Amino acid sequence: MSKALVVYQSKYGGAKVYAEWLKSKTGCDIAERREVTEAKLREYSCVIFGGGVYAGRIAGLSFVKKNSALLSGKRTAVFAVGATESSEELLKNLRNANFTSEMSGMPFFYCRGKFDLQKMKGLDKMIIRMVQKAKNNNDASENGGGTFAGDVSDWTDEKYLEPVLKFLAGI
Ligand SMILES: Cc1cc2nc3c(=O)[nH]c(=O)nc-3n(C[C@H](O)[C@H](O)[C@H](O)COP(=O)(O)O)c2cc1C
Repeated sequence: MSKALVVYQSKYGGAKVYAEWLKSKTGCDIAERREVTEAKLREYSCVIFGGGVYAGRIAGLSFVKKNSALLSGKRTAVFAVGATESSEELLKNLRNANFTSEMSGMPFFYCRGKFDLQKMKGLDKMIIRMVQKAKNNNDASENGGGTFAGDVSDWTDEKYLEPVLKFLAGI
């Protein structure tokens, strides 16, 4: 009952990388959101959910809302994985846009992710191309495209896990 479980939802591998790093650093179990049953959740005293950010929403966070009764007796936290550079303001905005009032006291962390336009599927690719185009037209001060400039970016870094590791260690 003392083990921790990291549940993740990851479309292009960003949140998955962080879940795997957490596993190798702490020995916690990890599982994709769709594999996690109520019976499995009951085995753990600590559950962390991690999901990618899409148009400001943390993918799969409904997992925490749906299982709130089961999670209420456990140490629970959330991490989001997005392309935007990390800042206090970003964390505040993501929390405001995604957390219910019941989740307000839940620890929340942010890790910078990655994207590869070549691996993206139809609509996602179209959206990113549109963002790149809008940035190119409107924001000449940034190096053309801002966060989503170029076809491939990878900002994943173990340093983002420091606060998550502290949480897992109970600090
Ligand atoms: C259609 C689309 C929308 C996105 N919207 C955001 C966003 O609003 N904010 C952000 O920081 N990153 C955004 N991203 C970048 C993803 O959050 C980033 O690629 C992250 O690593 C995805 O995590 P995952 O691969 O685990 O799903 C978006 C990516 C796509 C394809």
